[in-house]
Amino acid sequence: MDLLNTYPSIPYLEQRARKRIPFFAWEYLASGTGQEFGVAHNLAALQRIKLTPKMLAGRYEPDTRTELFGKTYDVPFGVAPVGMSGFLWPGAERILAAAAKKHNFPYCLSSVACETPETIAEIAGDNGWLQYYPLKDLADEADLLRRAWDAGIRTLAVTIDIPFGSRRERQLRAGLVMPPRYTLQTLWRVARRPHWAFATLAYGMPRFRALEPYLKSPDEYGKPRRPADFIDGLQDWGLIGRIRDTWKGALIVKGIMHPADALNAVEQGADGIVVSNHGARQLDGAPASIEALPDVVAEVGAKTKILFDSGVRGGLDMVRALALGADFCLMGRAFLFSVAALGKRGGDHAAEILRLDLANIMYQLGARSLADLPAYAPGRAASK
Ligand code: FNR
Repeated sequence: MDLLNTYPSIPYLEQRARKRIPFFAWEYLASGTGQEFGVAHNLAALQRIKLTPKMLAGRYEPDTRTELFGKTYDVPFGVAPVGMSGFLWPGAERILAAAAKKHNFPYCLSSVACETPETIAEIAGDNGWLQYYPLKDLADEADLLRRAWDAGIRTLAVTIDIPFGSRRERQLRAGLVMPPRYTLQTLWRVARRPHWAFATLAYGMPRFRALEPYLKSPDEYGKPRRPADFIDGLQDWGLIGRIRDTWKGALIVKGIMHPADALNAVEQGADGIVVSNHGARQLDGAPASIEALPDVVAEVGAKTKILFDSGVRGGLDMVRALALGADFCLMGRAFLFSVAALGKRGGDHAAEILRLDLANIMYQLGARSLADLPAYAPGRAASK
């Protein structure tokens, strides 16, 4: 357990990441939407969940393994899809995919990623998942999903919580626009972050490699098209039914807060859902994801696998979500903080520190396995 006491945990890595990547990249990673209350609210709502430990549970080593869609993972957590990860740190997608393979947890590649599903499948095998935002052109959709399947990806997460682009003023103020503008201020900001600048020069400029075949010619004004021009969020539940008809692997619907939506996803044939408010990047006034979890569990917990994200920063948060009925946790920012802070070592470091932290919390509670965790949910102590 030395690593746990000696090496930085996620909140420390967050501070370090901030000093290692340019201001505009930081603002992209950290921001929420609107008045930015939601990001802190996700964290605070998790903090409010208290777990009562039980002592003298005997000699044991916590069992953190769990099964999801017919595959056993060593830990109940994985990497949430984060668009343009390679812009946050060059090669971030490869670094995290390699860690996922080595430590046996899932890495979910965003469809607006800087690497292709083929590259990720080569590195991570079926520990590599693909996230999908509905594309306008159904031929592009069919092609992307076929490519992922042929490459060996077996789990697809369809993200449904971006009906329309949200207002992210913090990002705009930081000068984050597509296509990028190279102003003196941008160059100054890059010059102040030499690690990032040299790593980016060595790796090459970030590109939307996964979607590149579909980002066709410039528009009628000669401007390069952006992924947002090809994504169509204003869908109905037919989207999930259509994808279910063709995708032979596990299908997850990501971005569910309402129990009725959870039921819809199950009825359309989803194998799992992600209870998520997209890291508070879409609706600033939404409940914290952890506040939405219990009602969703009550509605569909017995019928489908429930994944959880938004605000998870360590083992304690994972245990909170699992105690409230989630089967699995995803983390977006936590993994990217680690890679931005530590570069190539960031994937392995996050994997190890998070696993040790989870095991440590299980020791503190007296929990032998993940299945024990619901017994520690708030309000359960009195009855056991
Ligand atoms: C995201 N998220 C996201 N989700 C998705 O389905 N596709 C994507 O491309 C992205 N891109 C993205 C970029 C950045 C910078 C962030 C922070 C998040 C949402 C992500 O998958 C996940 O739901 C949240 O990150 C969870 O919250 P935490 O773990 O960051 O608190």
